Amino acid sequence: MTKQRLGVCYYPEHWPEDLWAEDARRMRAIGLSLVRIGEFAWSRLEPEEGRYDFDWLARAIDVLHDAGLSVVLGTPTATPPKWLVDKTPSMLPLDAQGRSRGFGSRRHYCFSHERYARECERIVTALAQAFGAHAGVVAWQIDNEYGCHDTVESYSPAALIAFRRWCERKYGDIAALNRAWGNVFWSMELSSFDQIELPHLTVTEANPASLLDFQRFSSDQVAAFHRRQVEIICRHSPGRDILHNFMGGFTAFDHFALGRDLDVAAWDSYPLGFLERSHRDEAFKRRYMRVGDPDFQSFHHDLYRACGSGRLWIMEQQPGAVNWAPWNPLPAKGAVRMWTFEAFAAGAEVVSYFRWRQAPFAQEQMHEGLLLPNSEPNEALFVAQAVARELEEIDAKVETEDADVALVFDYESAFAWRIEPQGQDFSYSDLILDFYSALRRLGLNVDVVPPTPEALARRKLIVAPALFASSAALAEALAESGAVVLLGPRSGSKTEDFQIPSRLPPGDFRALVDVAVPRVESLRPDAQIGVDAQEGAAFVRWREIVALGERAEVLLQCVDGAPALVRRDRFLYLSGIPNDVLRAAIFRRLAVDAGLNVLDLPGHIRLRDNGPMRYVFNYGESDFDLSAILGEAPLLLGERRLPPCGVALFRRPR
Ligand code: GAL
Repeated sequence: MTKQRLGVCYYPEHWPEDLWAEDARRMRAIGLSLVRIGEFAWSRLEPEEGRYDFDWLARAIDVLHDAGLSVVLGTPTATPPKWLVDKTPSMLPLDAQGRSRGFGSRRHYCFSHERYARECERIVTALAQAFGAHAGVVAWQIDNEYGCHDTVESYSPAALIAFRRWCERKYGDIAALNRAWGNVFWSMELSSFDQIELPHLTVTEANPASLLDFQRFSSDQVAAFHRRQVEIICRHSPGRDILHNFMGGFTAFDHFALGRDLDVAAWDSYPLGFLERSHRDEAFKRRYMRVGDPDFQSFHHDLYRACGSGRLWIMEQQPGAVNWAPWNPLPAKGAVRMWTFEAFAAGAEVVSYFRWRQAPFAQEQMHEGLLLPNSEPNEALFVAQAVARELEEIDAKVETEDADVALVFDYESAFAWRIEPQGQDFSYSDLILDFYSALRRLGLNVDVVPPTPEALARRKLIVAPALFASSAALAEALAESGAVVLLGPRSGSKTEDFQIPSRLPPGDFRALVDVAVPRVESLRPDAQIGVDAQEGAAFVRWREIVALGERAEVLLQCVDGAPALVRRDRFLYLSGIPNDVLRAAIFRRLAVDAGLNVLDLPGHIRLRDNGPMRYVFNYGESDFDLSAILGEAPLLLGERRLPPCGVALFRRPR
């Protein structure tokens, strides 16, 4: 079983060389095992075209390795140097307004630019040949946060040519594309693939089907760009893990697809920054401003663990205040430790803090690290040290097993509903996160999974709202799962081609739930439709008028008499977005129907099982008495009265 370890992100090129050995010694002394380096260092690795300077990196890797640290080496392709941009200006991405994005920060490249991709292959080959067999290099991080700063889509000439070829491969002949896109509408018909334009700068909205294909294409370009580096590293650095650091709250490419070319899915967890940027209301943000959203971190752990086929790392963990959110408060005392253990509870192999020493220069000066810019310890250094000791004491290992509950997450649905929200505040990601929160508030472990038959097998409860397209295969997988299944709203309401299905929504899912959805409405924020579940229960933002088949039974009704929750056998259809009250009521009922053990937890307490071990986390502001869920089990971490930011660990009662 894999031991759970700590790491840190380090930039040797930022510091005088005579600091490195002392840095490495201190890292090891506080109990860190891994260090990620190199991911932005192209200008130092190749100061001029073809003149490689790898000696400093070799010395840095040796120093770290000699101190007993394992190295994760980043490929530097997120930061092409100035000479390369000047030599190949067409590699710069164009934004949706057609403007070139400039040099002077990072991610200034277009995924479709073949010459840039070849430059990447060249530098990555050189690095992999130089360091691929080094005993200290245990893993490679490819590039850095694909898509960060809105860089998945590019509207460049290179993207246009690549998109035309992508469409040609997909459709074969232009008549098929015209049909799929519905191009007869507004005289948009094309007579050859070379007439295709990128879907931007149109007078009013572009055709949603072309937008969806462009999003799929852009997603494929990211995966293809990635794969080229994977192949090189596999060749020259066998036996090392290949990973990429995904972001939170980011759905511009299909992470499950990219995950097929990863050994480990990693992500960068910044709970306070993400909360400030999230859809939560002001009161919620104020309440959790120093601890973060109690569900956001674990949602991403659960999602990315699936992207990594079970293997998860936190490549960057927030250690203190960050610099990039609208407001950047300090974490509460104990919060960094709690986030760290929450990742381990969800099966992370590694949690690596960002960054070792705060930078006194350039863009991220205000981002804290484990050390202050002058090398004195900052608070997180002591946190990391204490956690490292605790990990040893509890002998922490990855022990996850499949959860009884699967929440389906589908990147294409995220694309589709961003293209056609129909109400301006309809967000697929927010809907999924809200459903996830409701499940976790019942004390349930949840796997966030793709809509594939394998991922759905052996579950007790499957929650799959707003899957934009149905398919007979998916309907069959849901039928065969044996689980209680919740569909809707918006499930199966389009075909893969972004058209309304001929047999009406929910398309092939009608075989399961026996309803049809002929009409829908979106609701302004101050309008809601009461539902008879209990006082205060209502639909918000979205509601559907459902026509019942013979086998459908109404479980809940809207105040105007329209069905709100409908059941046929084990399959339920929800015809709107539930508010907090309705969501809690529905999920409790579903969990009970599915035979799950439901706990009554306060809103700020979260629980997570790592195999036989149970963790409890207190995101609240007051102590929580564990007695009811702990029984007589001895505590390995924490106290029976769990303080704010407290972490408890015990062997779960079976
Ligand atoms: C991440 C990024 C890091 C650093 C960090 C600051 O998005 O990968 O390089 O910028 O944010 O929080």
